[in-house]
Amino acid sequence: MAATEDLTYALNEQQLEFRELVRQIAQERVAPRAAEIDEKAEYPHDLRTLLAEQDILGLPFDEEYGGTGTGTLTLNIAVEELAKACASTALILMVQELGALPIKLFGTEEQKRRWLPRLASGEWTPAFALSEAEAGSDPGGMRTRAVRDGDDWVINGEKNWITNIGIADLYVVFAVTDPDAGHSRGISAFVVEADRPGFSIGKLEHKMGIRGSPTGQPVFQDVRVPQENLIGELHQGFKVAMATLDRSRLGVAAQAVGIAQGAIDYAAAYARERRQFGRPINSFQAIQFKLADMETRTAAARELLYKACAKADRRESDMGKYSAMAKLFASDTAMSVTVEAVQVLGGYGFVKEYPVERMMRDAKITQIYEGTNEIQRLVIARTLR
Ligand code: CAA
Repeated sequence: MAATEDLTYALNEQQLEFRELVRQIAQERVAPRAAEIDEKAEYPHDLRTLLAEQDILGLPFDEEYGGTGTGTLTLNIAVEELAKACASTALILMVQELGALPIKLFGTEEQKRRWLPRLASGEWTPAFALSEAEAGSDPGGMRTRAVRDGDDWVINGEKNWITNIGIADLYVVFAVTDPDAGHSRGISAFVVEADRPGFSIGKLEHKMGIRGSPTGQPVFQDVRVPQENLIGELHQGFKVAMATLDRSRLGVAAQAVGIAQGAIDYAAAYARERRQFGRPINSFQAIQFKLADMETRTAAARELLYKACAKADRRESDMGKYSAMAKLFASDTAMSVTVEAVQVLGGYGFVKEYPVERMMRDAKITQIYEGTNEIQRLVIARTLR
């Protein structure tokens, strides 16, 4: 057994102080906006500016590219605290990482210097364009094509379910460059800036949850990008996508833990105040046991998440397995915990005056995006063969 396998994590003084700071920002500035963002399905530009000003958007980046250089665990502590207050706002930070990861992990020095500092400062917003209408769980079956023309690549196709649609300044786009290479092969990754001619926005989705984050369909019609925009090796883009998702799934897990904890905190406070049969409902064992199970599952999800983050920070080889397990367990936890939170609030849980129904709707996507939980099980099971 490798020595690293027994290592876990410990939050240091700076991380604990930082968590307090983000918690305060999230509770004072983000939480009061959450219901309105959801109701109006409005992208919170004001909160994005706040995250940039507070250097929170710099968390996914190394210091040499203008980031905080504080690593994956610290980043996901911030995602968790933001998600407690508003899952849509947490997603701003998550996609700042997701869209930048291909460049961070596979970009040349020149490419990193070109794009990462602008992303770290929050001046630019990225998007990650992998999925298509007919290629969701199976991105290896994508149809978007990129064809070489002189020193350029010409991209044609449509992507689907892309977060930050219309907001993003650059899209990392995956396209088939060698159609004869076979399934999941012969794919390459390109940076496409949103102002390139031929780029447009197709359908916008109307969603059940994370309604403050626009999702939709970028369309590429003879979009020309120079060779310098190719990320990683030619025809090796599928690996760029997979390695990116291995890391970004930790963000989904952190969002799920945050949503779950936000729902528990609200339900527990409600149960202290709400009186029925002449006493607070948290004096009934039915409610106590529910809250105890919710808290226990969420604590377990957090432990797995933090351990997986520490593995990512140490670049351990089983990090992808752990991020899949953290995403799977945390998102299933968020779903069951938020359903129970609605139950604790009873009729009040079902109405929009109270936040738990929003949390329940927001939790659902964590079981689906960045790889459905069925795909996570597949990724985990493959390590056991
Ligand atoms: N890291 C690096 N390379 C990897 C890898 C990883 N984690 N996983 C696979 N690869 C490599 C393989 O080694 C193989 O390489 P070779 O060509 O050298 O042999 C190549 O990639 C193909 O691998 P597979 O044959 O295993 O590919 P597959 O077609 O069986 O797919 C899969 C595997 C795990 C099912 C994958 O398709 C998958 O993860 N699907 C889910 C996709 C997903 O998560 N989509 C979410 C999109 S993001 C989003 O949600 C949008 C948003 O904006 C929030």
